[in-house]
Amino acid sequence: MSDQLATLLDEQRRFPPDPAFTAAANATADLYQAAETDRIGFWAEQARRLTWMEPWHTTLEWTAPHAKWFLGGKLNVSANCLDRHLAGPRRNKAALIWEGEPGDRRVLTYWDLAREVNRAANAMKARGIRRGDRVAIYMPMIPEAAIAMLACTRIGAVHSVVFGGFSSESLRDRINDAEAVAVITTDGGYRRGQIVPLKRYVDLAVAECASVTTVMVVQRLAGTASAEAGATMKPGRDFWWHDLLRAASSRCEPEPMDAEDLLFILYTSGTTGKPKGIVHTTGGYLTQVAATTRWVFDLKDEDVFWCTADIGWVTGHSYVVYGPLANGATVLMYEGAPDWPNRDRMWEIAARYGVTVFYTAPTAIRAFMKWGTEHPARHDLSTLRLLGSVGEPINPEAWIWYHSHIGNGRCPIVDTWWQTETGAIMISPLPGVTTTKPGSATHPLPGVSVVLLDTKGVALAKGGGFLALTEPWPSMLRTIYGDDARYQETYWSRFPGRYFAGDGAKVDDDGYWWVLGRVDDVLNVAGHRIGTMEVESALVDHPSVAEAAVVGKTHELKGQALAAFVILKEGNHPTAQLKDDLKDHVARKIGAIAKPDDIFFVADVPKTRSGKIMRRLLKDIAEGRTLGDTTTLADPAVVAKLKDQYESDEG
Ligand code: WT7
Repeated sequence: MSDQLATLLDEQRRFPPDPAFTAAANATADLYQAAETDRIGFWAEQARRLTWMEPWHTTLEWTAPHAKWFLGGKLNVSANCLDRHLAGPRRNKAALIWEGEPGDRRVLTYWDLAREVNRAANAMKARGIRRGDRVAIYMPMIPEAAIAMLACTRIGAVHSVVFGGFSSESLRDRINDAEAVAVITTDGGYRRGQIVPLKRYVDLAVAECASVTTVMVVQRLAGTASAEAGATMKPGRDFWWHDLLRAASSRCEPEPMDAEDLLFILYTSGTTGKPKGIVHTTGGYLTQVAATTRWVFDLKDEDVFWCTADIGWVTGHSYVVYGPLANGATVLMYEGAPDWPNRDRMWEIAARYGVTVFYTAPTAIRAFMKWGTEHPARHDLSTLRLLGSVGEPINPEAWIWYHSHIGNGRCPIVDTWWQTETGAIMISPLPGVTTTKPGSATHPLPGVSVVLLDTKGVALAKGGGFLALTEPWPSMLRTIYGDDARYQETYWSRFPGRYFAGDGAKVDDDGYWWVLGRVDDVLNVAGHRIGTMEVESALVDHPSVAEAAVVGKTHELKGQALAAFVILKEGNHPTAQLKDDLKDHVARKIGAIAKPDDIFFVADVPKTRSGKIMRRLLKDIAEGRTLGDTTTLADPAVVAKLKDQYESDEG
């Protein structure tokens, strides 16, 4: 961390906004002043840009740590994302432009999308799905993923999207935690030319989910591939999406939802083995995602916005679906891998559709850097006018590369800090307003109150500390589904009365924020949050493992990679085959994203006298550093031995 920090803070380059961009920008500098003067009134003004069926009577009710925004107000998310665009010239505008990995293409206008959403909503109703019911969505990046989400919002069902890369066991646990009544999936999807048999995973999961009465299956695979992928249909439970929709009317009245009704649950990793079901509600969430989309991505009617995130993550919820569609924008969606069939696939797509605003993650940017400048150089990227980054700290070299080779030196970059829990972007430049520094997310957005704290919770004007939020914001999580005690404990107990984000940060002499990454037992692998405890539980679940300790180690492309120290049960032998088995076991339990890069068989792991694994020391070992302070260890000899063994293993 310290080397990385030093490089970050040495960064002297400045990128002031281009006056031409400023002149046309959606965001203006006076937003900060307006929010400063009357923060709550400022958010009410943003909320008024949505279409409400009934006005709210109270903008905010705050009984820490529980917030209610826009009380008494009624609205429907799908009506805001679709219906209100149908009356004017946006009716025939492209809402979704989609490209599948094999090269198939679809364009859905706002009219088309609204029709599909209405039919899907009626199909769900016909299957007995009602307001307040939970629906799991387990899909690849195809238009039906967005249609399914919007259809849930139309009837007031609560969606829980589970990333298509998660295992059937992860899916099962999420379905059961939310007691979902239905699952929407596909027979399969395409990834690097291979078929991912999603329906087969759903079958394995749903076999152990008593609450599920309906599985809706979108047919993505053509002809025999569908049957080959194992999409067998269980009568009475499984229905083809196209059969249900064919029978459904294309008019479904949007359900008037209370501003505080649940909109969705999205599971994210924490510091225990069990993922947290983050709860977002209707009015506040839509208000803040719509406002931040307008300011940060500066979307205009002519734009083609490409946010490369999967809908399985919050970025896909807020900036592929809800934020852009609430603004009547054109969104690009791509199903597959960035290097399939070639390493210029992203740029080929960007050029084909004339993408103007592009939002991706540093891990992708570092991969593009490694693949070489010849790939973007082969394509005409002159339509691009704004670039964004999210998910992890962006190192200044990657920022500069992105600026030069993708943005051709012309496009402002917005480095956006936020979380599943915050729902919307919290710290980011305003394009056209903010002078950027490569690697810094710059300043909190208008209406967002961020503070830097020391270990005792004392606010710091600058220097290093913990990132916390002091005032409620409209799109904040409301609780953890079914576990409010955990909500209070996780976010509000470390610094009472303030939301602790779990990140460390630095504020420089000019007041710029540099988010440094997690300070808890959560890792950020290629922009994805993975709890060390989750991976440890998965390893210990294997019959030959007695104990496991998982740490993150710095990785050139992924930011962090997982290294696991494993103690085997008596009678098991440390073989290369067993290493592979353990990696596969983790992939089966959680998903391929949680596979450790390295597994080390050890006799012991360093622990404090109270029995807590000293992850810091394991990280020192995994990264080949000299050992830090070992004085609190129960048995200091353990780590010296470990380090020797590790180094000879590596050599
Ligand atoms: C964690 C949240 C919501 C975006 C997708 C990830 C890290 C996110 C940045 C950034 C430095 C960042 C933080 C945060 N993070 N954006 N611009 N600079 N770090 O959502 O899975 O909820 O993860 O991602 O560590 O806590 P998430």
